[in-house]
Amino acid sequence: MTITEPAPAKINLALHVRRRRADGYHDLETLFAFATDGDTITVEPAPHDSFHITGPFAAALTHPHPSAPSLSQREREKTPKAAKGEGDPDDNLVTRARDAFRAAFALPPVAITLDKHLPVASGIGGGSADAAATLRALANHTDTPLSESRLDTIARTLGADVPACLHGRTALGTGRGDDLTTIAGLPGIPLLLVNPGVAVSTAAVFAGWDGIDNGPIPNGDLLSRAKAARNDLERPARALAPAIDAVLAQLAAAPGVLLARMSGSGATCFALFATTTDRGHARILAEARDWWTLSTTLA
Ligand code: C5P
Repeated sequence: MTITEPAPAKINLALHVRRRRADGYHDLETLFAFATDGDTITVEPAPHDSFHITGPFAAALTHPHPSAPSLSQREREKTPKAAKGEGDPDDNLVTRARDAFRAAFALPPVAITLDKHLPVASGIGGGSADAAATLRALANHTDTPLSESRLDTIARTLGADVPACLHGRTALGTGRGDDLTTIAGLPGIPLLLVNPGVAVSTAAVFAGWDGIDNGPIPNGDLLSRAKAARNDLERPARALAPAIDAVLAQLAAAPGVLLARMSGSGATCFALFATTTDRGHARILAEARDWWTLSTTLA
């Protein structure tokens, strides 16, 4: 039986960095939300393990170059849509998730396909979402309940955002971002994601944090607390990728915008809109700048 599992984009509606930790990570307070679109993981029974990557961002993963920017809109239009590549099994969170799952549960050989639609190294959880979707798909494939606590343990070893992506629901994240409390979401709100075509390293952005704790995320309903909060990684990310400035300025000035902010460690920015028409207008302006966009909604 083929199992298809969505790996939706993760958005940090707010992200407060509170302190550096001895383990090289930072304690955060963050409001996680999810889009209704993203990558897709497919798992099928097979005679031996395999891993393939398809989709518009397959090339960015199969031929990675640390300083290479993500594909721009024009470059992607030139790239064959069905670009198909053999994934690098040593350097992908999907195969690491598969191997960690197999170390904990009985898993026969599987063919895994990642259909990659989200830009890599871009603050919307692409790799974490893919790893989490792989764990969910393999759990389904082996009749392992999603409530099995070892899944969360594996998720934590794969990355700080992977538990949030495994959980897949709007949540307050504390600690490294992996201690989660479910909160009421804003389902159906029109959401636009915009990336100026620049890949930034999460570790480098965190390293640029100024060390100043500007306080917790305030209480209230989700939209008001997100509006009253910040993304403390915007400043160091903008220093590394100045193109973020223009994206944020354009989104903040868009008619009908409820909130415009960078997600995670960037460089993807998001905006929430009052109406789909407002979102559509903002998308046209972003695409006129040759930026990558995803028109979606909050889950
Ligand atoms: O856990 P993950 O591999 O996604 O984190 C990538 C890098 O981001 C870490 O090595 C660390 O430098 C930084 N990070 C951090 N504090 C967090 C999450 C990530 O410093 N809470």
